[in-house]
Amino acid sequence: MRLQEILDQLAEGIKTLLKEPAGSRRVKITDLTPRDGQQCKLATRVTTDDLLPMCVSLDKCGFYAVEVWGGATFDVCMRYLKEDPWERLRRIKAVMPNTKLQMLLRGQHLLAYRPYTDKIVYKFVERAIANGMNVFRIFEATNDFRNIEVATKAVKEMGGEAHVEVNYTVSPVHTLERWMEYGEQLIEVGADWLSLKDATGIMTPFDSYRIIKGIKDRAKNRLPVLLHCHDMGGTSSMCHLMAILAGVDMVDTVMSPLSFGSAHPATETMVASLKDTPFDTGIDLKLLEEPAQITRHIKEKYEKYETGYTGVSGEVFIHKIPGGMISNMVAQLKEAGKMKLMEAALKETPSVERDLGHPPLLTPTSQIVGVQAVLNVLAGERYKIVTRETTDYVKGKYGRPPGPVSKELIKKIMKDKEPDYSLRSGELADPGDWDRAVNELGPLARSEEDILLGVLFPMQAKEYLTLREKGDALQRPA
Ligand code: CO
Repeated sequence: MRLQEILDQLAEGIKTLLKEPAGSRRVKITDLTPRDGQQCKLATRVTTDDLLPMCVSLDKCGFYAVEVWGGATFDVCMRYLKEDPWERLRRIKAVMPNTKLQMLLRGQHLLAYRPYTDKIVYKFVERAIANGMNVFRIFEATNDFRNIEVATKAVKEMGGEAHVEVNYTVSPVHTLERWMEYGEQLIEVGADWLSLKDATGIMTPFDSYRIIKGIKDRAKNRLPVLLHCHDMGGTSSMCHLMAILAGVDMVDTVMSPLSFGSAHPATETMVASLKDTPFDTGIDLKLLEEPAQITRHIKEKYEKYETGYTGVSGEVFIHKIPGGMISNMVAQLKEAGKMKLMEAALKETPSVERDLGHPPLLTPTSQIVGVQAVLNVLAGERYKIVTRETTDYVKGKYGRPPGPVSKELIKKIMKDKEPDYSLRSGELADPGDWDRAVNELGPLARSEEDILLGVLFPMQAKEYLTLREKGDALQRPA
């Protein structure tokens, strides 16, 4: 879509919009503060005790949903907070009777870093719903949608709400036609919502308009469309507004103290901006004061987890690396005592991303690319050391790469064989995962929820459940 066409459409659209009453095209808001917000800005370290007052307060605001679980929640809860993530979900559910709870789910990889069998995907979704989850945002980092089909089906069969996501990136293989193809594929998978997600914050306002308009035209009235846009490049509130003018039905936000930069536009900013327009959210700004204040206190208490990479950074348009990935690369180089190689590692990242066929950079592909880029500069030779994850990625365990993978890299990893991308990740999963967790945990596991902890994070689960057995964990009675 040419720029002139967009401007003509906008001029025409605004003429009719001016005649419409406030709230006639209400935009819905999902608040992400207790999960994505605190993950981006405070390394997911906020304890359930500190989250609960915020949740009580967010429950009164009238959001479409509030995101409380997913991403790094399981790992960090067990490893650092000595908390049971299932207990977190139950406690939050108890104080949020009026709002749908939302989680992020990495398709066939659930919340971890390798694929699981369909049976485990079903079991996880079943237990999540039984413990209070309502909305599942389901994605696959490479946009290989075969890997979200099973999770989507499971969510629908068990009475949950499925939002399926297209991950945005900028690359030679991601043309406007490609985004439209992705949109069309997702319209067909039987989900309740379609989400366009920029996990980094490199989308520009006119691209936001083009893609949302194109997807909305194709979706017609079959399903509503939402935008999830991080703000590393500082463009996210412009992207939100352009998406709204293109007809988007919902946007994702974070309470102002933890907003913008590596996170999302502030909830208050969007509510105020749309007030008294046809897009009025219907949310009362006064009701947002209390959760904002609670969020500010949390930010002060957890200040030490804020890194230098949580603000807006223009460089992101060149290296495309999300905030969390930069922090991990810094940690990896610090450990090796080679911080002086940071510049070289940032430069190497786009080359690894190209060699792997331009995957959008979000967990787990962001970690795969970042770790490999750091190893390439540490070793002083590209792919002298290849990680197990890079090998698995090239073999297709993380889905079919969006573009061609470097021939030299394939040769290095697979010798004379070619990767077979006709299999989906679920078929490459280890069918012994469940039994292994049962054996490993023995009497430490008291429920299927405990076994799932062991399936997803074997080491952390064993350590955490041993602490719980000794009465040293932070778990409290429900
Ligand atoms: Co996000």
